[in-house]
Amino acid sequence: MPTICLIPGDGIGKEVVPAARRLLQATGLDLTFVEAEAGWATFNRTGTSVPAETLTTVTSSDATLAGAFTSPSHKVQGHQGAIRYMRRTLDLFSNLRPARSRPIPGSLPGIDMLMVRENTEGLYVENERRYAGGEIAIADAVVTRKASLRIARVALEQARRRRKRLAVVHKANVLPLTSGLFLETVMEVAKEYPDVETYDVIVDAAAMKLVREPASFDVLVSTNLFGDILSDLMAGLTGGLGVAPSANVGERYAIFEPVHGSAPDIAGQGVANPTAAMLTAAMMLDHLGFREEAARIEAAVDEVLASGPVTRDLGGTATTEEFTDAVIAAYTSA
Ligand code: NAI
Ligand code: MG
Repeated sequence: MPTICLIPGDGIGKEVVPAARRLLQATGLDLTFVEAEAGWATFNRTGTSVPAETLTTVTSSDATLAGAFTSPSHKVQGHQGAIRYMRRTLDLFSNLRPARSRPIPGSLPGIDMLMVRENTEGLYVENERRYAGGEIAIADAVVTRKASLRIARVALEQARRRRKRLAVVHKANVLPLTSGLFLETVMEVAKEYPDVETYDVIVDAAAMKLVREPASFDVLVSTNLFGDILSDLMAGLTGGLGVAPSANVGERYAIFEPVHGSAPDIAGQGVANPTAAMLTAAMMLDHLGFREEAARIEAAVDEVLASGPVTRDLGGTATTEEFTDAVIAAYTSA
């Protein structure tokens, strides 16, 4: 029976993770929950944002559901962002960011797409320096064949499960050696997937096409920075932060997290929207092989988003708990 590690983290993470847990329990699946701590409050108390025991709990669980982690906007000696630290330490090389139309204001119709973002390299290797007394700054962008091969496989496998179309998003026209290596490598792996229609799109054209014809996309795969930016754009097309789920998946471990942060402006009031955390929990169940329960959670969430009661961020007055009760009722009556 699967063991789920829960890391609520900071701010509204402490409200939306318990809400998702209640929904997971309502599925009747035989899940065992263990809690672990990480984040800014943990750093302030213990001097590390991800204690060793937390890593052990994550690696000995079948999947992890995380809430949100506060990061200071200034440099703090010895502090590492919890999620970036875990992505790197556990080699969670793929970041899956689905965007699907929701029955809420601000979500366009007909959208069902998935960004598969390379999560370990590109410009995010954090190798920056300044020269000439601070007048010149350089950042390295690293692309390896190895990382491109493995992210290509993840994207192609996802496309195979879906509508079998894969857009490779790149800038090889300007960066033929780096972005070009990514593009060539993905295209090479795509030959092993003749059932998937793989095509390339230059990143700036992809940004425009995502806004103008979002329904034309199925799966997209890209390097770290492009994937980061475009996946937020995709979330914006489907209703924004309160409803966007994500997953960080490696060969052995997986950490699922809503896209939003700790929302200090509303934390502690019991009004956070748990939709993103619930859809994230559904992704986690799907990953664990419980496809039917995952689809049922999505349907129950959509039903309540359409009929209400919804939380303040969506124009309603429901508390986190009232929304959660409604989703559980929709799930169990389906
Ligand atoms: P944020 O996502 O926490 O909040 C942005 C705005 O959206 C706020 O007005 C907030 O109230 C609202 N919002 C977000 N999620 C919501 C939800 N579930 N229900 C209702 N309203 C919601 O982003 P912000 O303010 O830029 O960052 C706050 C903190 O979170 C920072 O310390 C930041 O570093 C951290 N953060 C952490 C992330 C993570 O753990 N993956 C991702 C983004 C930010
Ligand atoms: Mg981002």
